[in-house]
This record gives sequence, structure tokens and C-alpha cells, in this order.
Amino acid sequence: MSVALEPIPFPPYRELGNEALHERIKVAKQALGKSLLILGHHYQQDDVIEHADLNGDSYQLSKLAADSVDCRSIVFCGVHFMAETADILANRPEKLRSRDGQRVSVILPDMSAGCSMADMAGIRQVEAAWKQLGEVIDTTDITPVTYINSAASLKAFCGRHGGIVCTSSNAKAVLEWAFAQRKRVFFFPDQHLGRNTSLKMGITNSQMPVWNPHEDELGGNTKQTIQDSRVILWKGHCSVHQMFQAEHVATFRKKYPGIKILVHPECPQEVNDIADISGSTSKIIETVRKAPAGTKWAIGTELHLVNRLKKEHPEQEIHFLSPLVCMCATMYRIDLAHLCWCLENLVQGHVVNQIVVREDIANWSLIALERMLTVS
Ligand code: 13P
Ligand code: SF4
Repeated sequence: MSVALEPIPFPPYRELGNEALHERIKVAKQALGKSLLILGHHYQQDDVIEHADLNGDSYQLSKLAADSVDCRSIVFCGVHFMAETADILANRPEKLRSRDGQRVSVILPDMSAGCSMADMAGIRQVEAAWKQLGEVIDTTDITPVTYINSAASLKAFCGRHGGIVCTSSNAKAVLEWAFAQRKRVFFFPDQHLGRNTSLKMGITNSQMPVWNPHEDELGGNTKQTIQDSRVILWKGHCSVHQMFQAEHVATFRKKYPGIKILVHPECPQEVNDIADISGSTSKIIETVRKAPAGTKWAIGTELHLVNRLKKEHPEQEIHFLSPLVCMCATMYRIDLAHLCWCLENLVQGHVVNQIVVREDIANWSLIALERMLTVS
């Protein structure tokens, strides 16, 4: 949950054309120097990535925001929950003290760059679920774990209830930590990351009921299934990764013998189970980078990243795992026009589209985020 700031109308920057926008971004960056840090998630379009000072997966970007020293503004070319996390980490109390109370302004170039998965779990729904769980099991036995792809209010919920945040690159280490604290886990909002990670730890599907927030009674479960559970999975998913199917894997294996299937753990279990490798966006990039020339890949993750890998590795044969276009439409809202607009405003001393997490929520979220940063 962020503090609501007055939305500022976006002027017709697109009419300038890409060539002029690239030039103007370079000029603005030069004027802002070290006071500016542009972070780019791996799913961003190439035009935007070209201007990012640092790229990374969600975990790396959180660390970069946490460790930032010189900058006074972070322009986050990612989605809303990432900018919230950056605001919490870059403006945590010890950082504020070291800057005599001066905040780092975290800017999301287009405020409509959200995450449909994060929107599948609202704080009221999670609190209502927790209350219902308390009627059939002891909630002091449950560690709540939220995927970083969630609103700050859910991270704060985890902070308040002895829980933790995870990303796709540290989910296993985080779940091990969670089970070292308590005997059950409540995992939200991505059922697939929760399930795929737990299966690798020997937990079975029968021990992982799915909690549907739209069902009135126990998320659509019986008292017994909740009492027998080890991990309660929230019924949420990523609409991009949900599109990859087991039959796509079979089609590629038949057509290209020896091809390797490389997927993100937000893909459904049927795909993860039969893939050769599953991992975060950074792991996907590293795996391709280290592979010998001539390796054939079918990759199941967001389209812009797969297309970039194709361009960067002409020595390998890279295919997109789905016949359909699976791109993150909200990430794509961050374009050159919005980037240029917010940078030129910064040069003029105006902060547009600032993300500021409410103080109480930021403080509790920080507890859950710091647990994550210590564990992994
Ligand atoms: P990672 O970059 O952490 O693998 O996450 C992917 C994603 O879906 C971000 O929203
Ligand atoms: Fe959210 Fe999926 Fe986009 Fe990631 S790819 S930001 S999980 S909608």
C-alpha cells in the first residue's frame, strides 16, 4: 500500500519519436549524474534496458535498492511492487539517518505498471483467510510467506506474523527457514511458485490445499484438509507464465531432439515437472550464458527476455516455448516516452510518479524483507 499522491497528467511525449527520446534521455541522465539510479527488470523492452544503470531479477533489484549509497532518485523500470520494495529498502531508518533524513525518491515511470498476480491477493482477503484458518488450526503454527510479487501490505502482514518474503531465486531457502520456525506455511499469492518449490522439498500435493479467496468456507477446503496441510497455497497465478503448457514441451522435444527446456517456476507444475531446468530470470540468463555453442533451448518465460537472449546468443538456438505471445503487458507500459518524461521532470526538480509506502506498512514490511535478505 502506497501513499496516494496526486496523479500528474502525462504529456504527448510519444509524438517525439524514439530517436529524439533516446537522445533526450541521455542528456537528462548526464545532467542528473550520480544522483540518479535507473533499475531495469529483465522483462523490460530493449529500448528501456539500454538506459538502465543496472538490470536484474526481483531479488537482485531489491538488493541493489537496499545497497544504494549515492543516488537520491531511483527510477524503477519494473512494476509497482518492485518500486514499493525499493522505497522500503532505500528509505529504511538506518539509511535515512545516514542521509540526515533525506529520502530517496523512487519513481515508477508509468503508475499503471502493476502486476496482475500481485492483484490476486488483497490484504483484506489475506486477513480474512488468516482469521478463518485460526478457527480450525493454530495460526501460531503457520509461517506466512509472501512472494515479492505482492503489495507492501502483504509483506507487512508477514512481518507482523513472524513471516517472510521470498523471490523466485530464493524460494527454497526461504521455505526451509519458514519450516524451521513453524510446522506449516501459508504461501501467497503465486500457487505455482509455492507448489513447485515445496514439491522439490518432498511435500506432496495432498499436503498442499489451495485456498480460493472467492469461496466462503475455508477457501473451498474441508477442516480435515486444512488440518492435514503443510503448505496452504493461495489461488493466484501469473497470467503470462500460466500460458505455458506441457504439450508445448512435448511438441518441441519431438521436433528438436536433444532440445533443453528452461522455464520460470511461475509456470504450472505440469510444465515444471518435465522441464530440464527451472529458475528465476537471472538463472535462466546465466544458464544460457554458460551453455556451449549449438545448444538448443525452448524457454518458458516472458517474451522480451527470451527475444533478448536470442539476440545476445546467436551461437545457440533459442525458441520461445509457447506458440502464443506471452508478454507482461504491464511491464511493457514503461516505455521511452514515460522514462524521458520522468527524467526531464527530475532535472527540473519535479518528482513525478513517486512511490511512497505508508510508514507503518513500510516498517512491518521491512522486517519480512530483512528476514529474506538474511536467509539468502
Ligand atoms: P524474477 O525476475 O525474480 O525471476 O521474477 C519474475 C517475475 O515475474 C517478476 O515479476
Ligand atoms: Fe506479474 Fe507475471 Fe508480469 Fe511478473 S510477468 S510482473 S508475475 S504479471
